Formats: sequence, structure tokens, C-alpha cells
Amino acid sequence: MPSVRSASPIALTSGAPSAIDADLLVIPWYEGETPSTLSGLDAATAGEVQRTLTQNEFQAKPFDVFIARVTDRSWRAERVALIGAGARGSEGVSSGEILRKIAAAAGLEARKRRVARAAFLVRGSGDAALLTQAVAEGLTLAEFYGGSYKTTEPQPAAPASWTIAFDGAAPAGTTEAVSRGRILGESSNLARALANEPGNTLTPREFAARASAIAAEGNIKVEVLDERQLSDLGMGLLLGVARGSSEPPRLMVFRHDPPGAPATPVLGLVGKGITFDTGGISIKPADGMERMKDDMAGGAAVACAMRAIGLLQAPMRVVGVVPATENMPGGRAIKPGDILKSAEGKTVEVINTDAEGRLILGDGLWYARKLGATHLVDVATLTGAVVVALGKITSGLFGTPERWVEQVRRVADRAGDKSWPMPVFDDYREQLKSEIADLANTGGRPAGSITAALFLKEFTGGLPWVHMDIAGTAWSDETRPFMPKGATGVAVRTLASLAFEQLEA
Ligand code: BES
Ligand code: MN
Ligand code: ZN
Repeated sequence: MPSVRSASPIALTSGAPSAIDADLLVIPWYEGETPSTLSGLDAATAGEVQRTLTQNEFQAKPFDVFIARVTDRSWRAERVALIGAGARGSEGVSSGEILRKIAAAAGLEARKRRVARAAFLVRGSGDAALLTQAVAEGLTLAEFYGGSYKTTEPQPAAPASWTIAFDGAAPAGTTEAVSRGRILGESSNLARALANEPGNTLTPREFAARASAIAAEGNIKVEVLDERQLSDLGMGLLLGVARGSSEPPRLMVFRHDPPGAPATPVLGLVGKGITFDTGGISIKPADGMERMKDDMAGGAAVACAMRAIGLLQAPMRVVGVVPATENMPGGRAIKPGDILKSAEGKTVEVINTDAEGRLILGDGLWYARKLGATHLVDVATLTGAVVVALGKITSGLFGTPERWVEQVRRVADRAGDKSWPMPVFDDYREQLKSEIADLANTGGRPAGSITAALFLKEFTGGLPWVHMDIAGTAWSDETRPFMPKGATGVAVRTLASLAFEQLEA
């Protein structure tokens, strides 16, 4: 596995920008700002800042970069980099969202330029601790390297050692904010590494072993149930999907039980852990099928969020459940028309074996309830339909009651995981009717992501529940300034942050 744990701690410093000691001092720059906003900067660069701004060479559009040598020897930085932050307040009241991205872009840029010692000046509106945390997250996200199986290319440059700097006195709480950001960034990177891992190395057993080791870093209690235990529990949906594979399924169970925590609420996190989705007998077309190695991204998010929850010592009880299996065709595979019985007792007619995520999550949600969850959140690369609806930027949110959905949306927004609520009107439930069983596993093409959510709802026992469909957001098909191609680590920070909330119901 690639090394994704942080190489060195991020230092903090405060005082005059001229006193910041670094090879490269990165300064977020908002549109319309003049050189005088940062006193001494223009003179330190012999007028280069003024020049680039008046010539409109650097316009402070997001991720624009302008680098100038510092000629004034009373400054300790060798060079400064202005990095465009766009219009101030364009992401709402706080600048956290844009700073997280800019810090990640700066981290990638510094690495590309083989900068050894870099500093990032925190500038923006909103709570200083939140901004600092966002910067630490961004810098940490930039440490991720996805080319772990390359043998002929030179190793990529080590990440720069970073200092987060403040112009003037460091605001209260920034030391803790850096370590929070570090943990959340690392946990996101660990989830990215798992989702990038191919199906032949990350089998359900290997996934369970690695995810368990990751969660255990946060002193999380971990249990892995094998196929015999699953059969004793009657998990016919999970076992049904696993039938086509020679690799046995697993169910990971994570528990965070802080001493003295109240008995309720118990946050229940459930993640889809399909280590490879061929579609099964309803096999997928070959084109692009390799991406289906990331069909366990939801499960990885749950395991890695549990690590963060433990390391950050969240005050509430949390249980995590990750059903893991391959979805393969084979002589013993389930077939369209087969009937499966869930652990809860409900029967399902399998119309399409490619709608496997909802099957394993049905048993997973039931198990989270059995463990005492009072509030459920599931995360899954569940439907192509959500990609049609919301694209690759926004995860779909489904659930009930509205206040709980809205709380998850708000927390996700702050964590940098964009999401948007979708309707789960009971009127759509008709599409899941089966002639022979309690319900069918598909509802046809119309509203495909909604009927998938309604299928899951059948297994929530009426608890407050949110389903996050990350089929569009778990994987980046193109290189972005702040993120290379590949697994994104979506939902890790959202799930971890929820464990610090007063849960709505
Ligand atoms: N893992 C896929 C969903 C998916 C599609 C994730 C594209 C990422 C990108 C899921 O198991 C699936 O195959 N869903 C089917 C459901 C259909 C058969 C009802 C789909 O969306 O086509
Ligand atoms: Mn599928
Ligand atoms: Zn799938």
C-alpha cells in the first residue's frame, strides 16, 4: 500500500509575514485585493506583485499561481506564491471550502516543484480554527500518492514540510485545529488508498484485514464475521451476492464506546463493501469496468471515519458496519428471478444481479440496528442514476426525517463533501413490487437512485436514516488542480464530523 500517513507534523507560526522562514511562502489571494492588503509584500518582491496585478497577469481566479522571488533580505522567505482564491465569500460565509482546495493545490504544486520547506499563510473570513483545520486537511490530502504499483518511474518527490502561518497573533485553538485537520486528511487518504487498490489484491478478506488495522489505529473495537457467522445470522442477502465468488464474504463491525458516553444516541455507519462489481450474471459491459474496483469506497469511508472518530475521541457511541464481498458471475452465482431472504426476514426477488449494493446493505443496516444504532447513515457507490442526476460533484442524499437529512447535508458541506437532498416519496415504492416476494431489487430505469434508496429504507426499521449515494463522487476521472485522478476519499470527513454533533431526529 502507498504510504499515506503524514511524513512530518505541520508546524504553526505567527507574527509578521516577513519573519516566516520558508523556501516558498504561499499566500491565498482573493479577487480584487490590492498589494497594500499585505503590507511590505510588494516592496519585498521589488514591485512584482503590483506589476502582475495591474497587468492582469494574475487575476486571483481559483488555483491561479504567481511566483516571485523575494529580493528584500529583511524577509526570510526565498519566494512567495500568490494562489488565486476567487471572490471572497463566494463559497458562503466561511472560506474553509476554498482554503481546503487551495491548500491541496499548493501542496501538489510544492511537491511538483520539489520545494523542501513551504509555508501557507491563512487568510480568509470565518472562524480561524475552522480555516486552519481546512488548510491542514488540504495540505495532508496533497500527500496522497496513487502510483504505488509503478516500478519504472522515479518515486515522486516527498511532500514539502509545511508551516501554517498567521499574519499577527495566532488565534485561539489553532494547534488543535491543525491536529484535527491532519487526522481527517490522513483518514481520507487511507480511504483513497483502499479504493484505489485493485480487486485482485483487495479481496473481501484482505479488505477486512486492512480496514480493521486502520480502524484499530483509533482504538476502535473491531470484529470481522466470517461466512459461517453470517450464515448463523441468516444474512441471505449478503451471502446471496457472495455466491458467485470463490472469495468468501466478510462483515466488519467497528465500535467506538467512549467511557462515560451516554447510552444514546448511537450513530450507526454502514458502508457498501463490494471489492469488485462485475454485475454478476447480469454482467456489466467491458468498457470502464475496471473502475468497479472502487465499489467498496463507502465501506472504506466508514472504516477510515471510525479511525478518525477514535483518534479525535468523539464523545458519542458509534457503530460501523461494512458488508464486504465480490459480485461475480459463476456456476453458483445468484440468477435473475432468484429469491433471497434477508436477516430481517424480508424476501427479495433478484431482478438484476447488478443491483447488489442494496442487497448487502439491507443486511448491513439490519445489523447496525441490532447493535443499537439510533441514527443510521449509509454510504454507497450505489447507482449510475445518481451520476445522471447530480454528476460527479455532488453526492445524492436520501432519507428521513428531513431534519436529520438536513443535518447530514450541513455537516457534509462544512467537511468539503458537497451533497444535495433527493426525494424518497413513498409513491415510488410501487416500482419495487414483486409478484412472488416482499420486494424486487430493482425498480426499472425511472428514478433509479430513488428506488434504490427506497429499497434500503425497508431495512431501517423506521429509524432516522440518511443514505449517501457516492457513485458519482467517489472517483475523479480527471486531474483537478487540488486532486489527482482516482479515489477521492469522499464522505470520510463527513462521517467523522457527525460524531461531534447533537444528532437530530
Ligand atoms: N456499483 C454500481 C453503481 C455504480 C455505477 C457506481 C457507476 C459507480 C459508477 C451498482 O452496483 C450498480 O451496478 N447499479 C446498477 C443498478 C441497476 C442494475 C438497477 C446501475 O446503477 O446501473
Ligand atoms: Mn452493481
Ligand atoms: Zn455495485
